[in-house]
Amino acid sequence: MAAAIAALMSCATRKYTPVADFPPEMAENIRTEYMKIWEKGKVLYGMNCAECHNQKVGRRMIIPDFSREKLEGYELRVSNRQHEENMPDERVTAEELSQICVFLSFRKKTGIPMQPPVR
Ligand code: HEC
Repeated sequence: MAAAIAALMSCATRKYTPVADFPPEMAENIRTEYMKIWEKGKVLYGMNCAECHNQKVGRRMIIPDFSREKLEGYELRVSNRQHEENMPDERVTAEELSQICVFLSFRKKTGIPMQPPVR
């Protein structure tokens, strides 16, 4: 019985944690700096993007893979109507957007492409 409960719990609590993935040729000191930005970007992504973009896969919410060329701070703001209306400067500053882009760019891919958000 205890084993069954333990199995159930581990199943229900499977959590997706994004993992940083920097190119091996990146110098150690630069990696350290980028890691700080990456951590900020992770939090900012959760605050500003996850609500529309995270996807449920089985029991987990995951961050899908965004196409790389679309990850440009300015472009993001105007890339579609949802962004134009939901990403004003007061919500995400240019600096924050670039931090989010660092987070999304240097992240171990989930292998699940971005789907248009259902709204
Ligand atoms: C209000 C909902 C909403 C929010 C919030 C939102 N997005 Fe989007 N995003 C969309 C929609 C809708 C699309 C367009 C989907 C399409 O055209 O296929 C999109 C498209 C994108 C794309 C293009 C992806 C591709 O591969 O074509 C990127 C990159 C992106 N969003 C990143 C972000 C980031 C980063 C944030 C947070 C700063 C964010 N989005 C916040 C709704 C949202």
